[in-house]
Amino acid sequence: MRNKFFITTPIYYVNDIPHIGHAYTTVAADILARYNRVKGKKVFFLTGADEHGQKVEKAAQEKSRSPKEHADLMVENYKTLWSKLDIKNDVFIRTTDSEHVKTVQSLLQKLWEKGEIEKRLYSGWYCIPDERFWTDKEVVTGNCPDCKRPVERITEENYFFLMSKYQERLLKYIDENPYYILPETRKNEVLGFLKNNPLGDLCISRPKHRLSWGISLPFDDSFVTYVWFDALINYYSATKYLAPEHRVQDTAPPTQPSPSRGEGKGGGENLTSEDWWPPEHHLIGKDILIIHAIYWSTMLMALELSLPKNIFAHGWWTVEGKKMSKSVGNVVDPNKVVEKYGVDAFRYFLFREVPFGLDGDFSDEAMIKRINTDLANDLGNLLYRTLVMIEKYFEGKIPQPPPYDINGSVDVLREIHLKNRIESIKEKFDVLMEKLSFGHALDKIWEAINDANKLIEDEAPWNLRKANNIDKLSSVLYTLAEAIRIIAVYLFPFMPAAAEKMWEQLNVEEKLSKINLDNGTRWGRLKPGTTIRKGTALFPRIEKG
Ligand code: MSP
Repeated sequence: MRNKFFITTPIYYVNDIPHIGHAYTTVAADILARYNRVKGKKVFFLTGADEHGQKVEKAAQEKSRSPKEHADLMVENYKTLWSKLDIKNDVFIRTTDSEHVKTVQSLLQKLWEKGEIEKRLYSGWYCIPDERFWTDKEVVTGNCPDCKRPVERITEENYFFLMSKYQERLLKYIDENPYYILPETRKNEVLGFLKNNPLGDLCISRPKHRLSWGISLPFDDSFVTYVWFDALINYYSATKYLAPEHRVQDTAPPTQPSPSRGEGKGGGENLTSEDWWPPEHHLIGKDILIIHAIYWSTMLMALELSLPKNIFAHGWWTVEGKKMSKSVGNVVDPNKVVEKYGVDAFRYFLFREVPFGLDGDFSDEAMIKRINTDLANDLGNLLYRTLVMIEKYFEGKIPQPPPYDINGSVDVLREIHLKNRIESIKEKFDVLMEKLSFGHALDKIWEAINDANKLIEDEAPWNLRKANNIDKLSSVLYTLAEAIRIIAVYLFPFMPAAAEKMWEQLNVEEKLSKINLDNGTRWGRLKPGTTIRKGTALFPRIEKG
C-alpha cells in the first residue's frame, strides 16, 4: 500500500515521569506524521506505554500501589505532556491492553509450535534495572556493562528464543537494505556487533516467583514473558486493534483532520491491519538500537512477518554538558520548558539545534539564543514588519501586485528572486524530510526567511511610500506576505501553533491543517484585497535573568 505512513515511537516505561528524551522522539514522530498528512498520506502515528516488568513492579511497590494502579496514574503524565506539546498521535497503546496481551500470547504460541522457542537450564549474570542477562565475558568487574550497576548470579530454567540461527540472514538483510538502519554510523555499529559477536539465543521468560508482573507464557503458566519481548510486539499488535480501521467512531486522542482520512487506499477501499504492517519508521534512541535491530528483526523473521522499512536511532541530550540524571538533579522536564518558552520554541529548538541522529546539549542559554535570534528576530520580525507596513500603507489590505515581469513597468527583480527562493524549497524540503534531516529542512526555510528580510532592507518600502511608488510598494509587500504564507505551510509540521497564527494574521481563508503541502505552497494563492489581522508578536524576545 503506497499511500500509507505508519510511524512509531518507543513505548515509554511508566516507572517515571517523562523527560526531554521522551519528548524528543515523540515530537520527531509528530513532525513526520504531520508532514505526511499534509502530503496527502493516510497516517498511523503510534506511541504508548510499556507497563510490565521489574522496573514498573518495583516503582509501584515503592508507592504502595499495584502495578496496574501505578501504570494508570503514570500514563496520564505522558498523555498530558503529549497534548501540551501539540502531539497528534492517532492512538496510545498500553501493554496492559487485553488485545495486546492476546497478540503477544498468540505470537508466542506460534513461535513455540514452530520450534523457535526452547526450554533450557541457564546460568548467567542478571542485571535487575536492565532486566537482562549478561555472560561472564560481558560483565565488567561484577557490574552490568550497560548501566554499571552490580549484577546477580542466577541459575534457573527459562525459555529461549533461538535467535542465534538468524545471524547470517540478518547480516545479509542489513547489507542489502541500506536504509534499514539509519543513520549510517548506527548501521555500522549494528553490523560491527553482528560480525564480531556470535549471536546468542534470547531468554524470553522470567519465572513468576521472581517476577509476576507480566504476560503469562501461553504454554507454561509458571513464567511471564520478558518485558522487551512483550514491548516490541506493541508495534505489531497495535495494527490489530488500534489502527484507524478498528476505530469505527474515531475515539482516538484529538487527531489532526487528515486531508486523506476517509479516502482509503487508491480511492475507496478501507485499510486493513495487514495493510498497515510494516511501519515506515521506528524512531528510537541510540541506547535501544541493538534491541530493535537484532531482537526485533529476528523475532519478525521467525514470525515470518515483514521487517520495518526503517529503524532510525537518534542521539542523546545532555544538559549543560552533563549526562542527565536524577541524582545530579538535572533532568529536563518538558512541562517546565514549555511553560517558560512556549511549545513551538521548544519543538523548534530540538530540531534546529542538533542534526537528528547526533547527540545534543540542552541549556537555557542555547534555548534563549535560538528564540531571540531565529524566532523573534528573523521570523517574528518579518511577519510583524510586513503586517505593519500593509496596515500603514494599504489600510490593512493585501495589495494587488503588478505582474512578475522583468520587462514590465516595475522593476521586480528582487521580488522574483524571493519568489524563486521560496519555490526552490519544495524539492529539497521533500528530500530532506524523507531523510529525516529536520535541521537541514529548517535551514532551507530560514534561507527564505533571511531573503525576505533582505528584501525589506534592500527595497526600504518606507522610501517607496515617500516617493509615492505605489506599484513597486505593492509588489514588495505582496511578495513578502505571500512568502510568509508559504513559509507557514512548511513550518506547520514543526511549529503548528505558530504557523497557524501566521495564517490567521494574514487572514487566509482555508485552515492550515487542512491544506495539502503541494497545493498550499504554490505561489500566488494569497488573495489581494484580504484584510489582514495583525495580532500579538509571534515570539516575544526573552530577556535574560
Ligand atoms: N520501554 C522501553 C522502550 C520499549 S520500545 C518497544 C524504554 N523506555 S524508556 O522510558 O526508558 O524510554 C526510552 C527512550 O527515551 C529511548 O528511546 C531513549 O533513547 C530515550 N532517552 C532516554 N534518555 C535520553 C536522553 N537523554 N536523550 C534522548 N533520548 C533519551 O526504553
